[in-house]
This record gives sequence, structure tokens and C-alpha cells, in this order.
Amino acid sequence: MNLKSIFFGKLLLCGGFLLTLASCEPAEAEYVIGVSQCSQDEWRTQMNREIMRESLFFPGVEVKITSANDDSRKQIQDIDSLLKQGVDLLVVAPNEAESMTPIIEKAYRSGTPVVLVDRKTHSSRYTAYIGADNREIGRGIGNYIQQRLGGKGNIVELTGLTGSTPATERHQGMMEELAKSPGIEVLATASAGWREADAERAFDSILTRQPHIDMVIAQNDRMALGAYEAAKKRNRHKDILFVGVDALSGAVNLVREGVLDASFIYPTAGDSLLQLAMHILRGEPYQKENILSTALVNSENARVMQMQTKHIETLDRKIEYLDQQLDTFLMRYSSQRILLWACLLILLLAGMLLVILVRAFWTKKRLNEELSAQKTKLEDQRDQLIALSHQVEEATRAKLAFFTNVSHDIRTPLTLISAPVEQLLKSRNLDEQEHFLVNIIHKNVTVLLRLANQIMDFRKYENGKLTLNLSRFQLGTAMAEWADSFKALSYRKHIHFLCRFASEEQTEVVADAEKLERILYNLLSNAFKFTPENGTVTVEQVFFEKEGKRWFRLTVTDDGVGMSAEHVQHIFDRFYQIGVHPGGSGIGLALVKAFVELHHGQIQVDSDSGKGTRFCIEIPTEQEGEVHSLDTLPRNTLNFKEGAILQAEQHSLVAAHAEVTGKEKTVLVIDDDQDIRAYVSSFLKKDYNVLEAANGQEGLQLAMKYVPDAVVCDVMMPVMDGMECCRRLKQELQTCHIPVMMLTAYDMAEQKIKGYQCGADSYIAKPFSAELLQVRLSNLIENRKRLKDFFAEGALPLTDTTEGHDLDQGFVEKLRTLIARNLHRADFTVEELGEKVGLSRVQLYRKTKSLCGYPPNELLRMARLKKAASLLASTEKTISEVAFEVGFNSPSYFAKCYREYFGENPTDFLKRKNQSDQ
Ligand code: FRU
Repeated sequence: MNLKSIFFGKLLLCGGFLLTLASCEPAEAEYVIGVSQCSQDEWRTQMNREIMRESLFFPGVEVKITSANDDSRKQIQDIDSLLKQGVDLLVVAPNEAESMTPIIEKAYRSGTPVVLVDRKTHSSRYTAYIGADNREIGRGIGNYIQQRLGGKGNIVELTGLTGSTPATERHQGMMEELAKSPGIEVLATASAGWREADAERAFDSILTRQPHIDMVIAQNDRMALGAYEAAKKRNRHKDILFVGVDALSGAVNLVREGVLDASFIYPTAGDSLLQLAMHILRGEPYQKENILSTALVNSENARVMQMQTKHIETLDRKIEYLDQQLDTFLMRYSSQRILLWACLLILLLAGMLLVILVRAFWTKKRLNEELSAQKTKLEDQRDQLIALSHQVEEATRAKLAFFTNVSHDIRTPLTLISAPVEQLLKSRNLDEQEHFLVNIIHKNVTVLLRLANQIMDFRKYENGKLTLNLSRFQLGTAMAEWADSFKALSYRKHIHFLCRFASEEQTEVVADAEKLERILYNLLSNAFKFTPENGTVTVEQVFFEKEGKRWFRLTVTDDGVGMSAEHVQHIFDRFYQIGVHPGGSGIGLALVKAFVELHHGQIQVDSDSGKGTRFCIEIPTEQEGEVHSLDTLPRNTLNFKEGAILQAEQHSLVAAHAEVTGKEKTVLVIDDDQDIRAYVSSFLKKDYNVLEAANGQEGLQLAMKYVPDAVVCDVMMPVMDGMECCRRLKQELQTCHIPVMMLTAYDMAEQKIKGYQCGADSYIAKPFSAELLQVRLSNLIENRKRLKDFFAEGALPLTDTTEGHDLDQGFVEKLRTLIARNLHRADFTVEELGEKVGLSRVQLYRKTKSLCGYPPNELLRMARLKKAASLLASTEKTISEVAFEVGFNSPSYFAKCYREYFGENPTDFLKRKNQSDQ
């Protein structure tokens, strides 16, 4: 797990922690109390405020209040809704008794405690009731009427909503009391539905009908005020006393002001109501009927009442203010707590970040230290490499200096050999063989001279002493002339040689003609060297413009063996050779590149293994410097030209040469150097048929075809080297018995071991003497013959041997078994035998002939006859029986063959046998 994921993991954890803390507020309500009010007025507003205020003292209590606006149907819906919300207790002030009874009973039956307040229903199915005794209030009113009017007078009654219990009970109480005073006449009773406006309207109507009214009894103060307004409009308000119920602070003021004559306290008691509800909810004891007391407020006590009411109101406001303050503090507390946790979280995160940063810092520091240690190590290694490369450079320089010195030293003797050899070649006294040998000397001296000169030139270039000898000449003509020298070689090697030179009239250039000529020779020599018979070598030269200058481009293309990309990279490195192929000293192309660079040009090579090579040179036509006349410049290109051609010719890729001249033994010579082949052939030809091949692959093909008696094979060759060729020869059944003599230019123990590992039978190092090679070769063939003779001994000429190749032994063993198993069959043929050992008839013939000295049919016949002799000697079988048993169809033919092989008739043998037995 990385630092990042740990960090985010911890961040999530902290976030979760903070959320948990935040979710602590607000707490889930413990109880929910639903209050369904029938009306919306001052009295109810006061009651609701008292309820809410009281609820503050009961944390965990939530109060939901609805108001039906004097509409019973709405109140039924309100109650339903509260019940659905799952209130724990329902408080109802029923608008009307009749219509509200069913819903209240339903709520009660459902198990929700129902507290009735102020008004009642027709049913006793409720949990508790709290409110004043309205009948008692009615009686108080009746009593007050009697006293105030002195037992005589006219009154008008304005009732609340018909059907609501306070209206009914207050009326009944009043009438009960008035029954005692016959002088009091109730002129009219009108319902005003507890509303001021309705009362004003109703009383106005009554006023029109009643001229003498002493007192109006309104069942609440609002309706009393409505009646007062109606009377005032008719200016009769001073004649009439107005009495109401409720005695809220406003009404007390009206009493003081004399608008109302009196009012009866109808307590709201919202606080008591909530306390009662809590008793019920908590399962504490409570009373079902909680009757609140009432009192008369008139001019005598209105002032005191007003003072008290005001004081209470002030206290209420303070409580409310405190409540608000508390809310504010709670809010502040809550937000501060969140802030605190947020700060803690941030601190925690910052801490974690710090830890991560510190760790990252230390890790980085450690890595930096490791890196710098590694850097120091690498720098040390680089310094070592630089020192090493300096050493290598120095060694190479020393080597090159040595080569140069040696080249310089051998040039004079070589020249001294070359001149007499040339004279010898011109001599007419030489026979053919002598001429041939002198020619080889001449060719190789020329090649050596060229090599020595090239090494010296390259050394000069490396020392910065190689300069351009400039002259002005026609490049097209010169190129054609130089390339012409390779025409003869192309005919000899059967290579298509295409020359395309600039045909413009003006092909003049200023350059070092000698160096250009040597560039061309080197490239052509290279192309011819690696192009097989029927291949194509193309040389092309064109002019072109580049960066405002005239340039010429020379391309030499061949479709020969080509090179791999890896070789192409190093082809211009001095002394670089491809693989083990001694295609040259590796100096030629390095020198070409040096000459091109001296001319401020570029050289490029494209090559594809197996498809050919293309060298491309681009050189500006005008070189800067002193321009001499071409004729005055020393030119020594003859040796280079000849050397290049000879070198290309020597390493001909196609030289398979098979000439079987009727000698008994055949020797295959495999070497890529034509002169070596020619030289070896020249002295082997006397005793052997000589086959020639230029590489391992061709050699292998010839060996398979001709099954020679010995192979003389060079180690380093193109296409397939000598080691591989030898290994393959020893793997093939047809050729595994052929003795192989390896030839190499290096007399190294390691190479010898490798050669023997490949199955080579002998090893001879170059330079070798012809005599030594001949002696060793003849010994090899002789040994093989002895082995063959040895095989030919015994019952069948095939026995175990301590000498010879494993594969040969296996072959002989197989042959022996097959013949032994089948010699009883007259139809067992040589073809079948060949098939069973996996060789063609001809291959089987050559193999058995070479290995055992007899053709296969002869071997089969011999095996039959030897078996027959053994049967005749060891059994009592007749000649005919024996003849048939060893696969002869005719006993007379058997007898003839037997006589030829053993020198006596089988019958004579039997006679001899019988005589000796007796
Ligand atoms: C308030 C009120 C009071 C009256 C009571 C009777 O809604 O009208 O004025 O005394 O209801 O229930």
C-alpha cells in the first residue's frame, strides 16, 4: 500500500468520524404531542404560546399545533393527519361536540391518549379533560345579572357556536340561575359563533326590535365587544351593560375603561395542559377531569387584574426571550462544536500530512543518497572505461604502427620478389606446372604489396599526413577507363558487369584522381569478391546539385551475399571482418572512407543479407587547394588495380570443380582461395581424382554426390565454414566414413581441438608443405582401407572394431543384422536392403564399397555362402537343403558360387568332412 492510499484511507476515516459527531445534533424527539385547535383567535393564541413555552421545560418533547378555523370538517382532517404522523398524544379542543365525537373516539380507540381541552364531545371516550366548568361560569353569569340589575331587567344573550359544549353549558348554567329571578327577562338569545362580527350583526338586529335592553350577556369578550360596537352605532351603548367571558388582558382593559361591565376569567392554562399530557405520556398518575377555576373581573378588581396580567405578560416575554437566547446559544454551541471538530480534523490531517511529508523527505533523501552512490559508481566505471578505451586506442595505435612498420619492411622484399617473378613469368623455359606455380607467386606478391601499401596509407591518414593531390580531369572518362579493368574478371567469373557513367560532355572535376581510382578499385573488388556466378555488379556515376554546389555520386551495387545490419554498422571500421571469412584484411573499406572524407564527401552502405550490397559515395566536384596537372602527379595505381582484381578473383564464391579422371582414389579439396585449391590440386592430381569446392556447402554437395575417399578442407570460409562442413559430413550416413583433413592458417591448439570435436581425422596448419599434406593424406586413406579390410574379415565381413566412426559401426551392424535375418530368402534383393538402411541403390553401393570393399550384392552372396559352409560343416543337411536355406533357388548355381568363393565344390567339402569324421 502506498503513502497516498494510506493518506486517503485516513482522510475517509476522519470524515466519517466528523459526520458521526455532527449527527449527534439534534436528538430524535422522545415524544410528539399533536394539538388540534378548533379556532384561531387571541384566546387560542395565548394557549398555544403557553403550551410551547411549557414544552421548553420538557426536553425531547415536540409539539405540533393545527388550527381548524371554526370548521369541524377541517378539524377532522387535521386530527387524521396528526394520527398518521404518529403523535404520541393528541390534544383536541373540539369545534362542535356532535360532529367531532367519532374521530375523537377513533383516536382514543387506536390507543393514542386523547386530552380534551376547553370543549367536550358527547362521549366519555377520552383520556382526560382540562378546562373550566362552563356550567359554573353560566351560573356565575346568572348570579352576576341578578346582583347587577337588582333582580329586575331585560337581557339579551349572544351565544357561541351552537353545538359546542361551552355555548350550551354556559347557557344552561345562566338559565338555571336566572330561574331564581323572575324579574329578569331574557329578551332574545342569538348565536354568533364566538365571532365579533357575527355578534355585531346579530345584536344590531336585536336592537332594532328591542327598545329597552339593560344588559347583553355575550359568551365571550369578542362577541361582547361586537354587541357594544352595534349599540354604539345606534348610540345606545351607554344604556346597556355589556358582559363577556375570557377576561384576557385586552378585555380587562375594556372593563377598566368601562366598555365592558364585567368579564369572567376563562383560563387558557396551556402550561397545565402540557404538564397533564406529560404525566399521561410518562405513565405518571393524573386526573381524568381537571377543572380550572374561574373568577369575575369587574371595575372593582380590573386594575389589580390588569397589573397582574401585565406582570405575567412581562415574565412571559422574558421567558420567551430567554428561550430565544437559549436557542441562539444552542445554535452557536452546536456550530462551535462542529467548528471544533472540523479544526481537530484539520489538525489531524495536517499532522498526517506532516508525517507523510517527513517520510517522503526521508525516502527521497535515502534515494538521493543511493542515486548519488550509484552515480559515483557509474562515474568510476565510466572513468575506467575511458581509461580502458584509451588503452585500447593506444594498443591499436601501437598495433597500427607495428603493422605499418612491418608493411614498410616487407614492401621492399616483396618488390624484390615481384620483379624477378615477373621476369620468370616472361621466361619461355618454364614448363606448364612451373609457370603455374610462378604465376601463383606473382599474384600473391601483388596482393601482399597492395595490402602493405594500404596499411601505410591508412596510417598516414590517421596521422593526418594523407593529403589530396588535386588535378582537373574528366571524371566520366576516367571512371570508364578504371572500371574497364574489371571487365576481364567479370567474363572469367560469369558476372554481369554494368557500367553507367555520366554522359554529359562536361564531367570535369577537381579531385585526387589516384584516390578516386583506388576507391573504385576497392569497391569493385569487394563487389566481385562477394558476387556469385551469374550475379550482377553495377557501377554508376552521376552529377547533382546540393546546397548550391555541384557534386558527383558514385554507386557500386551487387546482388551477392550481402551483410547483416550488425556488420553494416562496422563495415568502415579498420580491421573489421565479417565473421571468420578472410575476405580481406578489413583495411580496404576503412581506407575508402578515409579517401572520401579527405574529399569532404560522404559514404553510405545499404546491405541486405542474401540480397546484395550498395555502396554510395557523394563528393563535391570542386576540391579546394593547389591544382596540378594530371600528368605531373605521381600515380602508382597499377599495383592497387591488379591487387584488387586478384583479390576479388581469389575469393571466388563459385569454384565447384569436379573432374574424375579415372584414378582409383578421389580427394575433395574445399577452400575459398582459388590459388590454394589450384596449388593443392596441382600436386594431388598425380595420384588422385581431385574435386574442388569454394565453400563448405558446395563441398558437402560434392561429397554427397561423389563419396570421395578423403576430404581436405579449409577452416575459415564463407557460406559454410570448415568446422560445420566437417560436422555435417560426419553426420550423414553416406559420408561419415570419409576421412577429413582440416587446413587452417592458424596453428592454434584450440582450433585443433574444435576441429577434432567436429570429427576431423587430421589437421594440418598453413603454411604447409605439399609433401607433408600428401603423406598425411595417403596415411589417412590407407588407415581407412585397413579398417575396411578389417570389416571385411569374419563370417560376414562385418565385426566389432576399435577404430572407425560410430555411425559407420552402427551402419555395419545394421547391415549385418539385416543380411543375417534375410539371407534365407531368395527374393531378398539389394534394393530392399538399401530401403531398409535408408539409402538409394547407388548410395548403398558406394557406401558398402567404400566401407567394406565390396558392393552390396557381393556382400549378400558372401554371407549366404559363409552361412552355407557353416551349415554344411555343422549339420547333416544335404547340399540342396543348405542351398535353399541360404536363399539359392538352384543347387547347381549354389555349387558354382561356392566353388568360386571357397575354391572347392560343396560335395568335395562334404567328402572331406565325412572322411575326417571317420
Ligand atoms: C376561544 C373561545 C373563547 C371561549 C371559548 C369557548 O376560541 O371562543 O372565546 O371562551 O372559545 O370554547
